[in-house]
Amino acid sequence: MPHKPSLGSLTVNAGAPAPKNGEAFRKGPEFASTFHLSGEVGSQSYQYGRFGQPTWTALEQGIATLEGGETIIFPSGMSAAAAILTSLVKPGDTILLPSDGYAPVRYYTEQYLVRFGVHLRTVATADIDSFDFASIDIALLETPSNPMLDTFDISAAADKLHKQGGILAIDNTTLTFLGQQALALGADISMCADTKAVNGHSDVVFGHVATQNAQLCSKMRDWRKYSGNIPGPMETWLVHRSLSTLDVRLERMCNNALLLAEALSSHAKVKTVRYPGLPSDPSYLVAQRQQKLFGFIISFELASKEAADRFLQACELVYEATSFGGVHSTAERRARWGTDKIADGVIRFSVGCERPDDLLNDVMHALEQV
Ligand SMILES: Cc1ncc(COP(=O)(O)O)c(C=O)c1O
Repeated sequence: MPHKPSLGSLTVNAGAPAPKNGEAFRKGPEFASTFHLSGEVGSQSYQYGRFGQPTWTALEQGIATLEGGETIIFPSGMSAAAAILTSLVKPGDTILLPSDGYAPVRYYTEQYLVRFGVHLRTVATADIDSFDFASIDIALLETPSNPMLDTFDISAAADKLHKQGGILAIDNTTLTFLGQQALALGADISMCADTKAVNGHSDVVFGHVATQNAQLCSKMRDWRKYSGNIPGPMETWLVHRSLSTLDVRLERMCNNALLLAEALSSHAKVKTVRYPGLPSDPSYLVAQRQQKLFGFIISFELASKEAADRFLQACELVYEATSFGGVHSTAERRARWGTDKIADGVIRFSVGCERPDDLLNDVMHALEQV
């Protein structure tokens, strides 16, 4: 039997045109609002730019192969989250969100959905395994959570929700489909802010959802069409171009992250380190079982706000910035946003593709300045 290529290998050409003599390997972005459309309106593949267009289709087909479900792309991670929450809930439904997840998803729900009779409940990610889902209609949860990297068992949560007809959506941004196959684990929807690792070059804001459920898919696709939350062809093409190197980038990023996490965890100036790949980490057992990668984000605590600021200023290879998942290492003192309940000295570190020895040197040198 021929060897079945891994998802990592499939990523290289996912969504690219089939090989044909004389044709280019890749197509460029197609800029179109209007398509020739004569006669009755029916099954024509493209009709109007807000409904669908070829550059979207190529990327959606590419990601669908890797997610294992039909994919819809969006102009940001937030619009992907909004598509799930807005198109799938009805008045009286209860949404469950993580209390320690990406805060704007909670703000969106509070500001735009609760006033239409939707209820919001929250739960800390570390408490999800023992949570009673009885009153929940739809849950949009993150594992590992961000920034503190707690985990929960996706299959167990999906089983509990499905018993009562509920929907489980996973925000898979911190790992991507190569790091965690949310649909195969039982989630109904896998969502990702492709702004982060999938695009990975800090130059595009983007998102997608994927699902095997045709009904959910059609509701979210209609929401995109009628709300006009559509991605531009240039951004779509840039994300598709980046997709080809996702596997190789993640490999370097995650290997670097483990090396750094190990070094940080035995450093005298570091109070605590969270990284799901450390056997001592509370997330290790779940991560080892359900993740394909341990990830590229590390959170660690220094003695104070001042110590964390000094560390960030002393880094040379590591840029101070919010966001994560880029080829370049970035870090920030997360409490500066006031959105997460975390200590003042906590650094969220997104490990990039620099050479491991250089990165380790830079971080150890910066810690000496603390
Ligand atoms: C886990 C998570 N989900 C969703 C989002 C939203 O993505 P975007 O900024 O592309 O709207 C972010 C952004 O930081 C995120 O970290």
